[in-house]
Amino acid sequence: MKRKALIAGNWKMHTTAVEARMLATAVAEGCSGIDDRDVLIAPPFTVLGEVAASVKGSRVIVASQNVCWEEQGAYTGEISPIMVKAAGGSAAIVGHSERRQIFLEGDDLINRRLTGALTSGLMVILCVGETLEEREGGRMFAVLDRQVRRGLAGVDAAAMTRVVIAYEPVWAIGTGKTASKEQAQEAHAFIRNLLGEIFQKDIAAQTRILYGGSVKPTNIDELMAQPDIDGALVGGAALDPQSFRRIIAFG
Ligand code: PGA
Repeated sequence: MKRKALIAGNWKMHTTAVEARMLATAVAEGCSGIDDRDVLIAPPFTVLGEVAASVKGSRVIVASQNVCWEEQGAYTGEISPIMVKAAGGSAAIVGHSERRQIFLEGDDLINRRLTGALTSGLMVILCVGETLEEREGGRMFAVLDRQVRRGLAGVDAAAMTRVVIAYEPVWAIGTGKTASKEQAQEAHAFIRNLLGEIFQKDIAAQTRILYGGSVKPTNIDELMAQPDIDGALVGGAALDPQSFRRIIAFG
């Protein structure tokens, strides 16, 4: 089954309104005329609306970097799926390793975020990935197994059409150390096989699995040539319009 590639830019805690509008406009211009791949950007909450307005009419999907499971209520510091949609977004990232490591979000909380976002009709990118210590301790597959199973608990096959998995080894994020194409392919194949166990083979075959962690214009082509790598979740290089445009133009 042919999966449509998805190149996603995670802006993390960067950009104020003026910068965000410029960057979003450059991304939208950069992917005009390209329709064989999807492009997504995840700006900070504060500029979500501005970014959505800047890319309106283009094919760029706008996502939040995290999302709460409730529609509204006493959840200081959170935003709801309804707010994301009202601001012009249609997707959300959940379980990013910075949320797991720095803000101590665990699998159950991430699962609540994911299922809440799906219920509200958003597309969701679930991030998973092992730390260096876990990899070197031989626990990589166990960690991926747990994060994928618990992250997707309660999700039905129909909703899986709106789920994307991002494999992001923690040791490769923001470090300049990309996983080799073989290491990335190995993890992606493991996750795809796992999706076949949790759901069915056709769900495993249709689900997009992105690689993230120091993706750059210089390594995107070899990563995308791997059979189970369906796209990229890009941090640092997504803040530079030229680099991000080159990554979108992989191939
Ligand atoms: P990086 O970040 O590309 O800067 O390594 C990737 C991510 O955290 O999604």
